[in-house]
Amino acid sequence: MTNRKLIVGNWKMNPGTLAEAKKIAARARRIATTLEHTDAVICPPFVFLGALVPKKPVKQFHIGAQSAYFEESGAFTGEVSVTMLHDIGVEYVIVGHSEERARGDTDEIVAKKVKAVIEAGLTPIVCVGEASRDIEGASHYDVLKEQIKNSFAGVPKRVGRDIILAYEPVWAIGAKESMLPEQIYEMSLFVKKVFSDAFGAETAVEVTVLYGGSVNYRNAADIISIGKVDGLLVGRESLNTVGFVELLKAVDGMKQQ
Ligand code: 13P
Repeated sequence: MTNRKLIVGNWKMNPGTLAEAKKIAARARRIATTLEHTDAVICPPFVFLGALVPKKPVKQFHIGAQSAYFEESGAFTGEVSVTMLHDIGVEYVIVGHSEERARGDTDEIVAKKVKAVIEAGLTPIVCVGEASRDIEGASHYDVLKEQIKNSFAGVPKRVGRDIILAYEPVWAIGAKESMLPEQIYEMSLFVKKVFSDAFGAETAVEVTVLYGGSVNYRNAADIISIGKVDGLLVGRESLNTVGFVELLKAVDGMKQQ
């Protein structure tokens, strides 16, 4: 954890054209250059990545991919390797997003991808989150614990510092409201605790934890200040040029904690 905030925009399978993608990225890049305490990462679809990596590096603005395959090269039709992403200037990779897990990525695959991303010198943004909350039995804690443990199985302890955790409760993704900031605080502590079992307390204290799920410019600052997370993983609002700019401004303008 640092004092800087990290805002990651996950564009998912949007927008429909390169021209639109360039427009959205240009706006984000422009506002990012004015940020003092915040870094912005946008994660467009693979086909747009090459065109959107800034020609001149911008300190507060970076490009991420939404996925990557764990093998380096070979007969893997449709896949993109981490080396290819690194080669064109991509710096972050989202791994284990619930929408990818729903299409077949198991915890074991997620762990392989985490390792491959780190080995290529990129930063993995590893998504974890329960599908639903069990208000009475609290079984979602066990589900989440297992998911985190297994998603990092075999990942060497020494690379714990290179990992960004994104806590995204699946039920809050694409929803009307985010999880309540007070609950986010409780869950982010739990996520850190489980992470510390795998990587040690020292690493867990420093790990960057993001929250994702129905974040917008209105709730962003509260989620960070009350939820005590280091940043946000933003879906829909990251494609709304006005909303994303307002969100970045709101987060950057927060009183430093
Ligand atoms: P929304 O912000 O649209 O709910 O999406 C969240 C998400 O899945 C980001 O990865």
